[in-house]
Amino acid sequence: MTSNKKKKILLVDDDQSHRLMLKVNMTDKGYEIFEAEDGDEAIELVMKDFFDLIIMDIKMKNVDGITALKHIKDLSPSIPVMIMTAHSSVKTAVEALKLGATEYFVKPLDMDAVCHSVVKTFDYLELQTENKTLKERLKKEFEISSIIGKSKSMRDLFEVLALSAPSDATILILGESGTGKELIANAVHNNSYKKDKPFVKINCAALPENLLESELFGHEKGAFTGAVTKRQGRFELADGGTLFLDEIGDMTLSTQAKILRVLQEGEFERVGGDKTIKVDVRIIAATNKDLELEVDEGNFRKDLFFRLSVVPITLPPLRKRKQDIPLLAEHFLKRYTEKNNRLIRGFTPEAIDKIVRYDWPGNVRELENVIERTVIMSRENMINPETLPFSLKNSAKADNGTDVMPGRSIKEVEKELIINTLANTDNNITHTAELLGISRRTLYNKIKEYGIEV
Ligand SMILES: Nc1ncnc2c1ncn2[C@@H]1O[C@H](COP(=O)(O)OP(=O)(O)OP(=O)(O)O)[C@@H](O)[C@H]1O
Ligand SMILES: [Mg+2]
Repeated sequence: MTSNKKKKILLVDDDQSHRLMLKVNMTDKGYEIFEAEDGDEAIELVMKDFFDLIIMDIKMKNVDGITALKHIKDLSPSIPVMIMTAHSSVKTAVEALKLGATEYFVKPLDMDAVCHSVVKTFDYLELQTENKTLKERLKKEFEISSIIGKSKSMRDLFEVLALSAPSDATILILGESGTGKELIANAVHNNSYKKDKPFVKINCAALPENLLESELFGHEKGAFTGAVTKRQGRFELADGGTLFLDEIGDMTLSTQAKILRVLQEGEFERVGGDKTIKVDVRIIAATNKDLELEVDEGNFRKDLFFRLSVVPITLPPLRKRKQDIPLLAEHFLKRYTEKNNRLIRGFTPEAIDKIVRYDWPGNVRELENVIERTVIMSRENMINPETLPFSLKNSAKADNGTDVMPGRSIKEVEKELIINTLANTDNNITHTAELLGISRRTLYNKIKEYGIEV
């Protein structure tokens, strides 16, 4: 199954005799071997050249294997990395596997086992490539919305999505601007039984009240100046399918009352008409406003809020799910290099670091725009911090933008640090406590004291 071109393997170990032993064995098997003395050198080589596989020691002077593995996976997520470890650091090996290493070997190495694993990995990869091209062909024909995310909050969201999409339940999508509300709405429809029926969208914030009502419910001929013909509204157009009411928090109370009636009775009249029209429409609504607050302030009907939020889906802002950032960045990099015919292989570790640290007030949309712009502006085959926009380059404040300038109280800074560390660890209490150097109990107490949401 192996192709004729010589596979390139990078050996990373600070023990020269160990490297030599591996090299002799691997060269024998027909692989082309490259060597690095430590993690730093390995990262440099990966940035410059393409390797089919990396075999790396964990314990090395300077940059160790775990740190190098993280950077290499950021640079080139699909490259298989095998880890070598001394018996005593099996725990680290498990960490390496979690970070995406494909396998680990305990020293002293069993050369036959290592060679066998390498052959198996290459065979498996070729099979995977074949499967992928097949899948990609299928995907082009039946495009399903690609929502990227591996953080706990996004994985939970996928579960809710999988359960609720095939039902007829009304779904309310909440989240800041640019968090992916429309993407989710599309996914819900595409994964429902109504996917072959109409999917109609309307932005409730884009139109003044009277025009919005005629858009939603249609109008009879002569209903108002300019209504020269009878016209069907979006509810009618969506009959049998799904209607996506975007920016629902921006509707007037009178329009809200009319929507409530359609939701409750499934009926309405066209503007200027008295014939009652019945429809069967599944509703998905979205808003970037805090709807509960709008209800409290009397701007949004409580009964409509309850009716809409049968299945509420909240998209957390990107700064609260930093784990997703490298993944999304890679995704957009691929999309925009292909679209613009550019050959950019990845991000340097420094660039990814800057991207992850930035606060992303415009969420995924801002990230997408930044990557697109960077792809167009970049003259090199790796994206480095210099190519990133000015605002990002200067995001090198303390971790995650925590502002430790004089004039702030220790409590304020402590609260922010806890919030940011939680965001970085996907709300993992144990890991957060570890990073902050405090006990879990102390962390719990502080979370309670500061009223931090987890
Ligand atoms: N999880 C994700 N995976 C891949 N792409 C995403 C994801 N989330 C958002 N995007 C992309 O980011 C952009 C903004 O998303 P979208 O338009 O759905 O946001 P929104 O929440 O509706 O924003 P607004 O409130 O401003 O209307 C889109 O191009 C979308 O495809
Ligand atoms: Mg939107």
